[in-house]
Amino acid sequence: MSIVDFGSFVVDLTSRSKGFPVPGQTILGNSFRYGPGGKGSNQAVAAHRAGADVTFVTKLGKDAFGQIALDFYRKEGMNTDYILEEEGLSTSVAQIMVDEESAQNAIIVIIDACGKISEQDVEKCRKLVESANILLLQHEINMDAQYRVIDIAHRAGVRIVLNPAPAAPIPDEIMAKIDIVTPNETEAEVLTGIHVANAADARRAAECFLKKGVRQVVITLGAMGAYAFDGVREELLPRIPVEAVDTTGAGDAFNGGFAMALDAGMDLFTALRYGNVTGALSVTRYGTAPAMPTREEIDRLYAATYGTK
Ligand SMILES: Nc1ncnc2c1ncn2[C@@H]1O[C@H](COP(=O)(O)OP(=O)(O)O)[C@@H](O)[C@H]1O
Ligand SMILES: [Mg+2]
Repeated sequence: MSIVDFGSFVVDLTSRSKGFPVPGQTILGNSFRYGPGGKGSNQAVAAHRAGADVTFVTKLGKDAFGQIALDFYRKEGMNTDYILEEEGLSTSVAQIMVDEESAQNAIIVIIDACGKISEQDVEKCRKLVESANILLLQHEINMDAQYRVIDIAHRAGVRIVLNPAPAAPIPDEIMAKIDIVTPNETEAEVLTGIHVANAADARRAAECFLKKGVRQVVITLGAMGAYAFDGVREELLPRIPVEAVDTTGAGDAFNGGFAMALDAGMDLFTALRYGNVTGALSVTRYGTAPAMPTREEIDRLYAATYGTK
């Protein structure tokens, strides 16, 4: 059993200030933090902490920001054999401005190294991908590399889980190779045209994905919980009541916990519960990767919420 997560690494550079600067203006902010981010990386960390055997594939520049990734994965005890590096490229960054008064944010993401994954890079990972039980993907790397990886995995019979975030159009021939899609409600709306506000909407959006050849559909609904449909059975799980302090990275936590459970051989609806538990725990803490819960915490909340299997 193993998961290969092929995705993005981005350093989050977060400044907090009172209000935003207007064009031409310089303001003094209140605090600055930086740390590992990117949906691919966050989901790999979540699955690893949840107890899965995960190999994360991404590409970094040979720069100080890339070192942040390597240091973090080594500290976590994660496999770094497939963290590619390329001289002359920059590790991707996200400049995040948070207005402490309105709690709004404004973000500029610069995808460089992890958006320049070449055909040769993908070939280096062919055997790894072919030997995976689950391939976990998002939408933050270059699409040509993404499609090559999907093709390799599909031919090898590897189960493909795509978290289509941020939402981007997916060609029909690619969609037909995906086993499970896991959009949130806004991504589901962009991809299907259906505004998802309740279980009936989620069902209609899920049917759209199934019509395109996807085998199973999960739609995460933020504070409304999470939904799954396999063409026969459907379930809307309410959110687990926790005290939410920071919901960024909830979807990444969900996907990591969900993938761990699938990899361990659990069915779609049990994996949905693990995702719901992992997402809930992540919102009780600040940050993304550092906020991912451990297997022990997941098992405790799972048992308290759903009982023991
Ligand atoms: N306020 C919350 N309380 C409990 N669980 C939450 C909360 N917000 C999110 N979650 C959990 O995290 C999952 C993913 O959150 P969601 O907002 O749908 O993803 P994204 O971060 O991609 O927008 C939800 O399906 C739910 O399981
Ligand atoms: Mg959300």
